[in-house]
Amino acid sequence: MPLSLISVFVALLVTSLVWSGAANPLQRQKIAPKVVIISMFGDEAEVWHKRLPDSGLGDLADVQTHVPGLSVQYPHVYCTRDYSICHLTTGMGEINSAATMMALTFSDKFDLRSTYFIVSGIGGVNPKHGTLGSVAIARYAVQVALQYEIDARSIPKGWDTGYMAFGTKKPFEYPTIIYGTEVFELNEALRDVVFRLAGTAELSDSEATDAYRLKYTTMGRDFTPGTQPPAVIKCDAATSDVYYSGALLSAAFEKTSAVWTNGSAEYCMSAQEDNATLEVLVRAAVAGLVDFSRVIVMRAGSNFDRPPANVSTYAHLAVLDQNGFHIAIENLYNTGIEIVNGIIGGWDCVFKKGVAPMNYIGDIFGSLGGEPDFGPGSLTCGAGVSSGGAGDKRTAGQKA
Ligand SMILES: *[C@@H]1O[C@H](CO)[C@@H](O)[C@H](O)[C@H]1NC(C)=O
Ligand SMILES: *[C@@H]1O[C@H](CO)[C@@H](O)[C@H](O)[C@H]1NC(C)=O
Ligand SMILES: *[C@@H]1O[C@H](CO)[C@@H](O)[C@H](O)[C@H]1NC(C)=O
Repeated sequence: MPLSLISVFVALLVTSLVWSGAANPLQRQKIAPKVVIISMFGDEAEVWHKRLPDSGLGDLADVQTHVPGLSVQYPHVYCTRDYSICHLTTGMGEINSAATMMALTFSDKFDLRSTYFIVSGIGGVNPKHGTLGSVAIARYAVQVALQYEIDARSIPKGWDTGYMAFGTKKPFEYPTIIYGTEVFELNEALRDVVFRLAGTAELSDSEATDAYRLKYTTMGRDFTPGTQPPAVIKCDAATSDVYYSGALLSAAFEKTSAVWTNGSAEYCMSAQEDNATLEVLVRAAVAGLVDFSRVIVMRAGSNFDRPPANVSTYAHLAVLDQNGFHIAIENLYNTGIEIVNGIIGGWDCVFKKGVAPMNYIGDIFGSLGGEPDFGPGSLTCGAGVSSGGAGDKRTAGQKA
């Protein structure tokens, strides 16, 4: 082919590619899922991929979308053919979950303004509130390890813990240096709706799991919930990159959760991501990209956060098998699918317009408007932050 013909051919080809990109509306349309399910690692994800087709709601293998900035281990968002349900995996811990959620919510491939987000992960369960296989739906999430730490072997006499909030001089005082991610509060009215939906699920259990639960029976009435069969419960989540275990640390973080929420949070599940995910969703909500009243955090107990009587903390954490992992994973799906079904089935009548929150929702700064019922008060006198920001004068390291 003469050179001139080749260049005409190439020019035509380029023109047609550009034209088809611009003219094909499907190519330009953003994916606007009704529900996004968020897992943190492979096993949590797999149960959704494997079992969703049986629900009749679709197959997550149908649409695979690459989003720049997702975890290198989990670089795709998966959606059903009608795009109503999507799923992604963040990678574990606070940094992975924040980075992944930032990439998703700020991606121009998605329109998430009406999307319900379900954080669906396993956690360490507090036997005073629940048991292995129980599924907790949270109102508060507290980043409990955002503190100073003195090693337990060198703490002052009479202290219960080596943790002190930033800007304080002893344990269990309210932090005076606020990072902004200490506490998040979610839509309680939505939690009540999804609690009822999840409550219709049949939960998985096993005899081996029951054997470990029964070890808590001699520990008194406070620990009765730990000895019971799994259930769907309402209580709150603690976030910490440090995977802590044992009666002392668990009691310290239980108390931290209560102090930082001014007495409101009932800590029952520990995990490593929720506050990071929620911080990103607050920022995306400030940017008008998501609706923070549509966020659900559920955690299923895969292990107890502290050992039963006469079992050492080390043996509890690293030697004995509590046999909670498998049923926790199954119960995330068993309850989660009822919620997804309820949202999709009730879309036109209820969920499209949303479940209006009656409580404060958002972070400790009051970024989304309103007056937090915990912490030192809204930074913006209740007005919230506009996309341009709240002003830079009260920022890093500020004293509350
Ligand atoms: C983490 O998020 C939970 C749930 O919204 C909230 O109760 C908790 O206070 C948050 N903690 C931190 C330290 O951000
Ligand atoms: C724990 O061990 C002590 C001392 O050996 C014993 O008296 C007690 O009954 C044990 N408790 C349980 C719950 O096994
Ligand atoms: C929460 O408790 C702290 C410390 O006692 C206090 O300074 C703050 O005003 C309280 N916030 C609310 C909303 O009650």
